[in-house]
Amino acid sequence: MTAPAAARANPFRTRTGCLVLPSILSADFARLGDECRDALRAGGDALHVDVMDGHFVPNLSMGPVVCAAVRHAAPDAFIDVHLMVTDPMHWVRPFAAAGADHLQFHAEVARDPAAMAAAIRAAGMSAGVVINPDTPAEACFDALEHVETVMLMSVHPGYAGQSFIAGVLRKAPTIRARMRPGQRLMIDGGVSPANAASCRDAGCDVLVAASAIFGAADRAAAIRDIRGAGG
Ligand code: DX5
Ligand code: ZN
Repeated sequence: MTAPAAARANPFRTRTGCLVLPSILSADFARLGDECRDALRAGGDALHVDVMDGHFVPNLSMGPVVCAAVRHAAPDAFIDVHLMVTDPMHWVRPFAAAGADHLQFHAEVARDPAAMAAAIRAAGMSAGVVINPDTPAEACFDALEHVETVMLMSVHPGYAGQSFIAGVLRKAPTIRARMRPGQRLMIDGGVSPANAASCRDAGCDVLVAASAIFGAADRAAAIRDIRGAGG
């Protein structure tokens, strides 16, 4: 029996400094359990699960069945699910049942962010809001008081391995200025040891990376370099 989300420590709250979340989108799916455990052993603070519906983004990835498999393979891991779907409300309960701990929805499709975050919390998870590269910072303001994390997309979502869009960092100070202490500012897409310092300097304190971690010969070194000296 898998422990409910509330029983697992939330690293956004319990850990200090910059966190690094390996995104399993670049894992070897034929060996997914081993890949998850390896990413955690290498220093990942939580696992990031990218859910795509072929509608909000032009690709399909994984659903609750894969999340449940990750939960089974890594019972103590904190699982952060990034919903890149047109109807996020529909997926709250299925991902809670599949063992997700943190559920992130996009501001572009959340008609009522307060209700969305409340549904996520009622299902036993913490909530986060995400904005795409071309979405202005202001688009997450309605959600801000209801969520634990805000995430900037630094690629157009849909695929791993794309180039980092540095211009999105301009939104970070605007959002940071409105965040309360303890809230986390995440960034996702094209993050690597080469640009991680610019993300941290801009105020991001949770960095998500797929290809830069799973594609690295030394994953622990990649995570260490993305986290930086202060982490
Ligand atoms: C993009 C996903 C990202 C992706 C990042 O649609 O939301 O989480 O896995 O992949 P990299 O780090 O390779 O850009
Ligand atoms: Zn993601």
